[in-house]
Order: sequence, then C-alpha cells, then structure tokens
Amino acid sequence: MADHGEALKAIADSLDRPSAARIYDYFIGGDTNYAIDREFAEKVRKRLPLMGEYCKTSRGFLGRAVREVSQLGITQFVDIGSGLPTAGNVHEVADDTREEYDTHVLYIDNEPIALAHSEVLLADTADPDRHQAIAADFLDPDELWDEVRQSEIIDTDQPIALVINAVMHFIKDDQGPDALLAFYRNQLAPGSMLILSQMTNENPVNEDERQALLDLIGYYETTTNPAVMRSMAEFSRFFGDWPLLEPGLVYAPAWHPDEDTLFAASPSESRVIGGVGRKP
Ligand SMILES: C[S@@+](CC[C@H](N)C(=O)[O-])C[C@H]1O[C@@H](n2cnc3c(N)ncnc32)[C@H](O)[C@@H]1O
Repeated sequence: MADHGEALKAIADSLDRPSAARIYDYFIGGDTNYAIDREFAEKVRKRLPLMGEYCKTSRGFLGRAVREVSQLGITQFVDIGSGLPTAGNVHEVADDTREEYDTHVLYIDNEPIALAHSEVLLADTADPDRHQAIAADFLDPDELWDEVRQSEIIDTDQPIALVINAVMHFIKDDQGPDALLAFYRNQLAPGSMLILSQMTNENPVNEDERQALLDLIGYYETTTNPAVMRSMAEFSRFFGDWPLLEPGLVYAPAWHPDEDTLFAASPSESRVIGGVGRKP
C-alpha cells in the first residue's frame, strides 16, 4: 500500500471491533489477532464449542479444492476475502501441487490488517512476479475487477479459479449477492472454476444447537462483519448454471476428504457447505 499513513489509520480504525478475518485467524491457530478478537472468539466458543473446528473445516476445504483444480490444470487464482495468511495459503498449496511452479495468485481482502500481513508473508515466501495481495471490496465489483486486470499477474482472458471461501456468510441478501456473483461469473473465461463455501444452519443436531447458531448470528452483529447462514438450497444459486465438479454441493468434509479432514465420518455436523463449479 503506497500511503502508509492512510494504511495505519485504517488499521487503527479496524481495531475498535472484532473482525471476521482476525477471529477466524485465531480459531484456525494463527497469531494475527488482538485481545478484542480473542475475547469475542472465546465467547462464541462457550456457546458453540466446535466453532474452531468449523473454521478449520472451511480452511481444509479451501486447500483440497485448490489442490483439485490445480491438478485439473488451473494455474491462475483470484482469492477474494483471502483473510490473514497462516499455513496452507493458496499459493503454497497450488505451488505444492504443480511442480512447474507456474501458478499465479492474487489475494484480495478489504481488511486492512489482512492486507498488511499478506504483503509481509508474500515478501518472505512468494514470487512477486506470480503472487500479489491487494485491497479491494467484494461489494465493489467493477473496481475490484479493474484491479485484477491491472495486476499484471492475472490474464483475465484465460481460465481462473475464483476463490470465495468462507466469505458469503458475511454477505447478506440485501447486499445483492446474486448480482455480485453473476458479475464475477461473467468476467471469467470458459474453463474457469468457482470455489465457494459458507456456514450453514441446516440440520442442527438438536434445539439447543439451532438456538446456538441463531445466537452466533447475533454475536457477529457486534463485529465488523455481520453474518448470515444459508441452507444448501439457498447457497446453490451462487453457482448460477455452472455444472459442479463431483461430488457437487455438499457438507465440506464430504468434498474429496483426505486423512486430515475433520468431521469426515459425520460431514453434516461440520456446519460448512461447499462446492466447485466449472464454467462451460
Ligand atoms: C472467514 S475469513 C475467510 C478467509 C479465507 N478465505 C479462508 O477461507 O481461509 C472471511 C474473510 O472475508 C473477508 N471479507 C468479508 N467481507 C469482505 C468484502 N466485502 N470484501 C473483501 N473481503 C471481505 C474478511 O475480511 C475475511 O478476511
């Protein structure tokens, strides 16, 4: 970010409330979070003891989906709502999968600390000709896509995997998620992929869990990112008419599980749904 004064002010302003990026970072074992985020996360954990496992489930799905589409030949990733870098970032998974080291990854988030830390991580671990981080808002699609085009590391005429992982539960229906997704799907070349997941409140195991998931939504109203849960039926529309890779839209642990997958024996208890669409 060119203007450090502006960046520091944005960071200071973002510290008056817990932020989804930093709460998630705490839950998946990262260290880029503050007391205000940790206190919030522990309040959530008291009500939903497995919240950390749900977050790790989202992160695990991301890794498996990136690995799968890399194996299918995708070399370009635009990761919107990329969050705070910890282990298993998209460029690391993609580079691990493709020994050609030909993957290009553009990380995008609107959380000022996420951007600052992504820049530090990339300076240490990445190739600046192939991996970059920028600040942009998913809710400003024209501006965001202009930035993608100008980034020079992504060729928007070629297939891209658009990653929007564990982000849609922060986009409420009155913010126009259908039009936003339609816009992004339209920008992509044939053969592109859409990696999507979000939290669901479908099939709670009992009345207490149903109420706990409602309470979670209430808690997030006090953060920088109010949240919304969706059922499979409500979420499936975000893929438009794109066919889905096998096994379709499922509870995330059922999507190509590996030996590290949490909830592999009981996917519906994970509270996370996900899938990957492919543009015809
Ligand atoms: C739960 S984290 C997910 C991080 C990462 N995608 C992953 O799956 O590991 C959600 C991320 O979405 C980002 N986010 C939420 N609303 C956004 C928006 N309107 N534009 C860009 N990023 C957004 C948050 O800042 C946060 O980093």
